[in-house]
Amino acid sequence: MSERLKAPRGTRDVLGEQAAAYAEVEQRARGVLEAAGYERIETPAFEATELFARGVGPATDVVEKEMYTFEDAGGRSLTLRPEGTAPVCRAYLEHGMSRRPQPVKLWYMSSFFRFERAQAGRYRQFWQVGAEAIGSDDPAVDAESILLLAELFDTLGVRGLRLRLSSLGTPRTRALYREQLIEHLNRHAEQLSTEVRERMQRNPLRAFDSDHAGTRAVIATAPKLLDALDSADREHFTAVRELLDDASLAYEVDPMLVRGLDYYTRTVFEFESAELGAQRGVGGGGRYDGLIEQLAGPPTPGCGWAAGVERILLAGEPLARAGAPVDLYVGFDAPQRRRVAFALATQARQAGLHAQLELAGRSFPKGQLKHADRLGARFVALLGADGVALRQMDTGEQTETASEGLIAQVLRRR
Ligand code: HAM
Repeated sequence: MSERLKAPRGTRDVLGEQAAAYAEVEQRARGVLEAAGYERIETPAFEATELFARGVGPATDVVEKEMYTFEDAGGRSLTLRPEGTAPVCRAYLEHGMSRRPQPVKLWYMSSFFRFERAQAGRYRQFWQVGAEAIGSDDPAVDAESILLLAELFDTLGVRGLRLRLSSLGTPRTRALYREQLIEHLNRHAEQLSTEVRERMQRNPLRAFDSDHAGTRAVIATAPKLLDALDSADREHFTAVRELLDDASLAYEVDPMLVRGLDYYTRTVFEFESAELGAQRGVGGGGRYDGLIEQLAGPPTPGCGWAAGVERILLAGEPLARAGAPVDLYVGFDAPQRRRVAFALATQARQAGLHAQLELAGRSFPKGQLKHADRLGARFVALLGADGVALRQMDTGEQTETASEGLIAQVLRRR
């Protein structure tokens, strides 16, 4: 016998109540985001590898270690999308969305792929709900975007939230700061983890993400990017904070916050939930004013976020919805009545009822009634040798009926 196959490591089947919970997240996200003018977008599951190399940044963990990259039969290098911002910006350019009134606001809920160490809350295929507003550098975009994510978490009952907020400034500020930071790291090189030391020149900001005790000590005394902002960036950050204060949204300014993707400029933020273990980040994002240019477009600011659906479900209140009701279950006693029973169930659905047919040859009527009861059916049609009976399951009342009027009766009494 050949071996039974399992879903690949780090992937999950989404079944039953879980599937209903995903659908509920999507529905509530639609409610929150479409009320603010966000339109749904769906981009392909794979893109040219270069999109992520250029967009997300060649020195990021995502691009260096985590992409599912393959060559297709036509010899092109493709990558399963590890994130949604670069694809949405590509689509913005490809469809000439700069000609629309700005900002263009788009949202998505899709699956993403990263080759990461699988653990609770971290998967190799996971779902994100995300929102991007492209074409405005107004600080109100940043604040509104953060508030919408907070509102989404609120409607989904996500508990134990903490919002960290910072500003990374412009690429120029960051380039100057980078040199200062490398100098500081170099001065304390012997205390740093091997990984941070090795990547210091390429991506010194990663040191802020390290769990290594020595590195953390060095970082504690490092100069902070937040102190190096120029006046325009500082003004922008102040304006974002004022709007969040006006909306009474609590946050902590955290100069240690860096995000794992290279496209961020100015505002960055992350929501963490105390309900989650090591993988606390439930959603995050920020401004990416240089990304569209990075993708060969004209200078175009943008701002957005993404939140992990599995993490929302781990940290949120149970979202199981009642299953779809069954108005009518159609049972029959013998194969010669299958066609009539089949037609009755089909017509019932056409009339708008939720209707199911006996499909497993259960005993008539006992086994079939038991199954209909398990499904929570309101009515059961029993097609037997003596004619058709309609049984109302909660009262047990059963009446002989002509099959023509049966659907109308269920519609009336439902
Ligand atoms: P990110 O922080 O890499 O940002 O991912 C956003 C969220 O996706 C995380 O907070 C986490 O909840 C979830 N997530 C990430 N990786 C995994 C994983 N392996 N398993 C389960 N959940 C995961 C972005 O992706 C940016 N595109 C967000 C953004 C949009 N920035 C601006 N616009």
